[in-house]
Amino acid sequence: MPEVRIVEVGLRDGLQNEAAILPTEVKREIAEGLIAAGVRDIEATSFVHPRWIPQLADAEELAGSLPRGEGVRYRALVPNRKGLERALATPIDEYAVFMSASETHNRKNINKSIDETFPVLEETVRLARERGKRVRGYVSTVFGCPYEGEVSVAQVAKVCDRLFEMGVYEVSLGDTIGVAHPRQVKEVLRELLKLFPADRLAGHFHDTRGTAQVNAYVALEMGITTLDSSFGGLGGCPYAPGAAGNVATEDLVYMLEGMGVSTGIDLEALCRVSASVQERIGRKLPSKVLQSTLAS
Ligand code: HMG
Ligand code: MG
Repeated sequence: MPEVRIVEVGLRDGLQNEAAILPTEVKREIAEGLIAAGVRDIEATSFVHPRWIPQLADAEELAGSLPRGEGVRYRALVPNRKGLERALATPIDEYAVFMSASETHNRKNINKSIDETFPVLEETVRLARERGKRVRGYVSTVFGCPYEGEVSVAQVAKVCDRLFEMGVYEVSLGDTIGVAHPRQVKEVLRELLKLFPADRLAGHFHDTRGTAQVNAYVALEMGITTLDSSFGGLGGCPYAPGAAGNVATEDLVYMLEGMGVSTGIDLEALCRVSASVQERIGRKLPSKVLQSTLAS
């Protein structure tokens, strides 16, 4: 049976965009619930500047208290050497560097031009690898930028290429503001797959316009078997105005398991995690499967 690797980004991408700052203990309990539901790849936090993302200011404390489980690998975002040094002092298993394909979003998100970012990430990836850590790369605004509109595939390919040259093991392609539609996903992936193998690319779709799940499906059809999602459909980038959550892990798991694609995730157990977070933050989470489960 085919398999899809789901990278659960709710604790990071989800919580970074919530007005409420959850206590570290609650985040730890969420991780425990995710592990009990069979989630293995968990992006737990970011070692970014706490002024930029106050919701994740407890990165060290959380990283030090995360529950372990067989096969569980925790990841965290590191934007630069300082973030890497903070992360290296914790038990986080692997890291992710991130930048955008569009100039303005890159500047708003990490305060540098694209050309200024390359050497910073180069150093970060090199030092991480010297310490035996695997590093993922993210490219944001692959399918459109909130400030510049269209982004060319050539620009996306250039950034992916530089990230691979630095030594990242995979690049996750971010539809940061959820503008992509299936035809565009097909066209962009067709070009990128001429340059990079499918098993080194991942799909990271936000659901601002209701297309995240169908875009994830198209990516799968194109051979991409690593997909990012967040429990309950939490998420968004605070430096991309109006960006909604990631495709919900529940919705993705429901679709994939129904298609006979194994994810290793127990839907009921996952819904219990999201239901408790929903209660905690006091608003309905976007996942359709979650809401239909709660209604039945
Ligand atoms: P900066 O202000 O340009 O940093 O921020 P700097 O290098 O000029 O340093 C200024 C001060 O910050 C210094 O302190 C540094 O030590 C400190 P001072 O000497 O003034 O006391 N500093 C740090 N402190 C803690 N941790 C650090 C760190 N680095 C510097 N790592 C920086 C640059 C990148 C730090 C800032 O812009 C930042 O933190 N940005 C993060 C933004 C972010 O997290 N965005 C969301 C994640 S990306 C995303 O969601 C997209 C994704 O989901 C994919 C998709 O959907 O497309 C991944
Ligand atoms: Mg994101």
